[in-house]
Amino acid sequence: KYEDPPKICCLGAGYVGGPTMTVMAKKCPEIKVTVCDLNERRIAAWNSSALPIYEPGLQEVVEEARGRNLFFSTDIESAIRECTIIFVSVPTPTKKSGIGAGEAADLTYWELAARQIAAVCNASENKMPKIIVEKSTVPVKTADAMAAVMAAACKGTDFQVLSNPEFLAEGTAIDDLFKPDRVLVGGPQTPQGLAAIECLANVYRKWVPTERVLTTNLWSAELSKLTANAFLAQRISSINSISALCEVTGADVSEVGHAIGVDSRIGPKFFKASVGFGGSCFQKDILNLVYLCRSFGLPEVAEYWHQVIVMNDWQKRRFANAMVATMFNTVSGKRIAILGFAFKKDTGDTRESPAIDVCKALSEERAKLAIYDPKVSREQYYEDLGKEAMEKIEIDEDPYVACAGAHAIAVITEWDVFKTLDYQKIFNSMSKPAFIFDGRNILDHRKLSEIGFTVWAVGKCM
Ligand code: NAD
Ligand code: UGA
Repeated sequence: KYEDPPKICCLGAGYVGGPTMTVMAKKCPEIKVTVCDLNERRIAAWNSSALPIYEPGLQEVVEEARGRNLFFSTDIESAIRECTIIFVSVPTPTKKSGIGAGEAADLTYWELAARQIAAVCNASENKMPKIIVEKSTVPVKTADAMAAVMAAACKGTDFQVLSNPEFLAEGTAIDDLFKPDRVLVGGPQTPQGLAAIECLANVYRKWVPTERVLTTNLWSAELSKLTANAFLAQRISSINSISALCEVTGADVSEVGHAIGVDSRIGPKFFKASVGFGGSCFQKDILNLVYLCRSFGLPEVAEYWHQVIVMNDWQKRRFANAMVATMFNTVSGKRIAILGFAFKKDTGDTRESPAIDVCKALSEERAKLAIYDPKVSREQYYEDLGKEAMEKIEIDEDPYVACAGAHAIAVITEWDVFKTLDYQKIFNSMSKPAFIFDGRNILDHRKLSEIGFTVWAVGKCM
């Protein structure tokens, strides 16, 4: 009963909506894909040669499909009216106030999008059936709210609400979308629901092997997304907790991580000790899970997952504290070069970056910061650190300039370029003793010590 091929649109042209729809358009040239956003600047950037997000490989794919079957537009109404499949990929941040503040997901954007879809469908003469797809990460049972809004505000349109959470990671989004471990499509287990699931699954099957397109009920799909992020973050907090034990016992966290990761039951990935995990999702999704567990009367489960966040906060604080302690308990007035500000390499995204916490902690200790990151924009630093703090912070375009005259270097993001800097040249330009704090274990510590640096590395006893 659905048009074939189905026209597709997506509300939200952000880190998820942009790349996912671009890859869909590339892989399905017969399908018209329109990506919409309320933000005119964002859409203008998607239509230009300076895309609004940095993601390796994205530019080429956009350039191939844009104008052919991929369109970026602010005309949300037309897109909703003409499309069969409507993805919703709007933000679902942590609530800042009211009930559940600091934990529950803020569904304001989500509900506004639902009302917008309902209003357009209601006013439209064309009553073609619609499939509304949750792409945003949402609390379990959100699809019920979407269905309730549609049922109440939109008469005469047959619609189904599906959950199709996204598992891409920033920095590797294009590879992840080309070859996903799985695509998850959840929906109502009714004949109409199953038909909608098939329609969406068939789009993915154009490039994803059938056995990797998993279909489930709605609540399993919604919960799997929160759970996947919780498990991934839990691995990082687990290895980070062990990193602290390594530092005081003489064990080496990289060796421990390798030794346990080769056990095929455990697996090697996501075991890199760090200054703490960042990114827009891990923390918010775990807090959301914690809130859900509490709301459903499961305080023990809530407490269990909450520890993942507690450990991460502690790790970020621990790193900044270790810097101060190592530098004779004071960094006041000392220049410190911060290498990397994005929450991980190969992205300019700084949302929840551990660099923000570390910089704030060091600024409070009155250190003079000089920051270098290959992709973070100048405006972003102001947004993250505040105008007042920025008056005392230097932003550099060159890592050697950031390090010149510094008492210490802190490596916060694992950018590959940091591995191949000329550390002898950097050492020569620094105040002595010259400290280096490797929050990612990407540097050659032995060589740095030979040069003369005092080295501190997470999970290592130097
Ligand atoms: P984002 O902030 O980069 O993009 C969201 C966009 O939605 C913004 O450009 C905003 O202007 C737009 N928007 C808001 N309301 C709208 C409306 N009614 N109509 C049209 N556009 C609207 O966010 P993101 O990182 O893409 O995340 C979106 C969702 O995907 C979140 O729920 C997030 O948890 C989830 N997610 C994110 C990632 C990731 O790597 N960033 C990965 C998987 C899932
Ligand atoms: C993460 C998940 O990996 C994606 O599957 C998911 O779709 C996404 O969240 C989401 O829902 O937003 P992302 O946050 O983009 O993706 O990046 P990750 O590679 O997961 O890294 C997250 C943070 O953990 C980064 O700060 C990274 O440096 C840190 N990390 C990662 C470690 O400290 N150690 C590791 O071993 C791995």
